[in-house]
Amino acid sequence: MTQPPSMFSVLGLALFAAGTLHAQEFRPEIPHAWNDRDVAKLEVPLVQRDRSPRYLTAEQYYELKVRTIYRSYPVYAPGRAPAGYFESLKAKEPEVLIFDALALHSKEDWIRAGEAIFDDSPFPIRAGPDGYRMPPGLSLPITKDGIIPSERFVIRQKGLVEQSNGTSCAACHTRVLPDGTAVKGGQIDFAVYPVIAGSLRASPEAARETREFDWITSGAPWLMPREEVDKLTNEELARRYDAMIAGVLERQGTSSAFPVRVPSLVGVADIKYFDATGLVRHRSIGDLMRYDIVNTGMDLTAHFGDFQPRSTARPFGVDGTRFSDEQLYALALYLYSLKRRRIQTRLMIAPAAGNRSSSGKGARGVIHLRCTRTTSSLPLRASRSPRTYARPTTLWMFLWAQIPDLRRERDVARGSIRCHRCVAFGIAVRSVIAARRHRWTSGSTRRD
Ligand code: HEC
Repeated sequence: MTQPPSMFSVLGLALFAAGTLHAQEFRPEIPHAWNDRDVAKLEVPLVQRDRSPRYLTAEQYYELKVRTIYRSYPVYAPGRAPAGYFESLKAKEPEVLIFDALALHSKEDWIRAGEAIFDDSPFPIRAGPDGYRMPPGLSLPITKDGIIPSERFVIRQKGLVEQSNGTSCAACHTRVLPDGTAVKGGQIDFAVYPVIAGSLRASPEAARETREFDWITSGAPWLMPREEVDKLTNEELARRYDAMIAGVLERQGTSSAFPVRVPSLVGVADIKYFDATGLVRHRSIGDLMRYDIVNTGMDLTAHFGDFQPRSTARPFGVDGTRFSDEQLYALALYLYSLKRRRIQTRLMIAPAAGNRSSSGKGARGVIHLRCTRTTSSLPLRASRSPRTYARPTTLWMFLWAQIPDLRRERDVARGSIRCHRCVAFGIAVRSVIAARRHRWTSGSTRRD
């Protein structure tokens, strides 16, 4: 016989639930990010040890003023904003965002605050008179709602609407999927450098500035002295820039001869060494915070032996400000929150290469099984992804049942890879088909 729950057990349950809630209260442990001891061990030493960077000391760094982060607003593509949107922005007061435990209570609050930093531009520029001013030569991806997710409007002064100018984290680390949704942390999907190549060819003044900046970001005189680099013609540099396809950039520490791909930040919590070079260690949230400090200007003023790319008293952009530890912590939590959302498993039936002319679409099909482990289902670049001919739900479920622990394997690699179980399964299916075909062929021979 079932007993009705006693008053005590109900009360006990309520107390237990309250206790659990209390235990879940978020207590931020914010590291003192730029401390000399951890900074010294942040990076793996270079081959030429005396050329490893020497950064500002903790004392010098913490003397810099903290950057003010203002609330920002979505940017709509020209002609896509709701009526009166831009005018309503002009009427808004500037709103400074607060980063401390008094203003931010839950972990979600911190993550949301971190997203504001991800979107924040250190050097916003005045927007156009009626809305967003599209950078010349670029056509930025737009979501199905007409939003340009890599850019934001910001109000730092009432009546003046400014736009981020390709300088926020979001500018390089956001992607719009073919279905028109935005994935923050995804790899940029448009080419930037061919536009720079255009201006480099167009004006000697722009060429001079670009070359100077190129030296600041990628000069390594112990490998190639400036005189050698200067022998590179403008046309050759422009040709290199032209070759940088969508998702590929020349960033600090790389060069026009060795540009890098922008990595997806989705799943960055699992990465142990940052960057294509793997030079930067990721042992703790503090390391990610230090990485962000280095890459928002600290590296350009570092000393690499006797070489300092840019000697200035203001390392971080035009206003010489730095992030506070709280801001960096929020940003790091936001980056950690960028998780893979789902695993796509697709069954693809495609005609075998070379058989297209003699067969109908998929008729003499070879079954390609591909487990596409994606970070939040980012598709492969269209040119590289095989066409999906079929995705029968029953087979999908069958497959799913065959691979119960697919999820465990997702840490094996980021992006899209083949799952060996699927490959093995594919081989098995193919051999069954081959065996059947053999039977059919030999059967028909016998009948003949
Ligand atoms: C101009 C484009 C650009 C901007 C702006 C930018 N990044 Fe990146 N980011 C890159 C590129 C390119 C790399 C790869 C560098 C390499 O491999 O050497 C990278 C690498 C990273 C990595 C290492 C990830 C990995 O898998 O190794 C992190 C973390 C990161 N960026 C965070 C940020 C944050 C946070 C911001 C804003 C403060 C930001 N980035 C702004 C282009 C950019």
